Amino acid sequence: MKILGIESSCDDTSISIIDNNKNIIANETISQNQIHKDYNGVVPELAARNHVLYIDKILKRILKKQQLRITDISLIAATVGPGLVGGLLVGLTFAKTLSQVNRIPFIGVNHLEGHALTARLANKVEYPFLLLLVSGGHSNFYFISDINDYKFLGGTLDDALGEAFDKVANILGLDFPGGPQLELLAMKGDYKKVSLPKPLINIKSLDMSFSGLKTAAFNCNNEIDKNNISRCDLAASFQKSVADVLCKKISLAIDISNKEFSIYKNVVVSGGVAANNYLRKKIIENVKLKNKLVFFPPTDLCTDNGAMIAWAGYELYTAGVKSKLNIKAKPRWPLESIGERV
Ligand code: KG4
Ligand code: ZN
Repeated sequence: MKILGIESSCDDTSISIIDNNKNIIANETISQNQIHKDYNGVVPELAARNHVLYIDKILKRILKKQQLRITDISLIAATVGPGLVGGLLVGLTFAKTLSQVNRIPFIGVNHLEGHALTARLANKVEYPFLLLLVSGGHSNFYFISDINDYKFLGGTLDDALGEAFDKVANILGLDFPGGPQLELLAMKGDYKKVSLPKPLINIKSLDMSFSGLKTAAFNCNNEIDKNNISRCDLAASFQKSVADVLCKKISLAIDISNKEFSIYKNVVVSGGVAANNYLRKKIIENVKLKNKLVFFPPTDLCTDNGAMIAWAGYELYTAGVKSKLNIKAKPRWPLESIGERV
């Protein structure tokens, strides 16, 4: 069975073909980073227009490369939301049209569900599992009991972690999206030279907050070069504060889940920020102390991609979950209240 996955919820146009044996046959993404970098963020209208330009080209290219025809595809999955409505409409309309013209079943996927389940595409991760999803738009804990059974446990009260990475990176003069470059800068810095807050670290709830940390980094940036501190030190300190907060909150989330849910052994960390190797290392050390196993998607599947949508679509389809062809794009669509896919 070959599954086509289409992702267009933000600024990446990504199409993938996977099979039911977890092989990624093709996974091609056209990133719009160069287009949006002058605005320090994604411009929705520009993103939508560029999805229109790229989407059919990517599909034609991967089918040709793999010597496949669209009729070799058994299921078409596309992101329905949450995300920027213009981009969602492009991908969703494209997927629905392909489905109807070629009589291929269609399934609508929640973008966060895609991130949540990618670890199962790459590793043998059994349900249930505790999930920390850290991306450009979300920083939340969920308990994933099974496919289509997701509970929200807590998360950021303000900025998403990826957003905070991008804003601090911008303060440090790095191009959007700055998360990966901030990580590189931090490798050369000494976190001990700069003191930044660790917001809500000792609060006994899964609430998180990253906007104050971002402001503190901004204020500290004015001190650079004056007090023998460098941009690398500031980047390292920001990353250290984030790591400490995440580790503390993951420990708490494990304790809460141990009490509230069925026995589970797996913890998954996914979303764009989960590509950060420093955070991965700290989280692995921390989760080990709690006697759980921790899984991350491979770094290239942490950021938005069509393979995660194809995989989630396949899992839903084989579990008998259906979505109607008239399902609407949903700019807001919390993972825990997915409801019927209409
Ligand atoms: O999951 P994603 O591709 O898109 C959303 O669903 O939001 O995440 C993108 C975010 C961006 O904010 C980007 O800066 C961040 O993930 N990111 C990273 C790293 N790689 C991507 N943040 C920190 N370190 C990284 N290595
Ligand atoms: Zn995403």
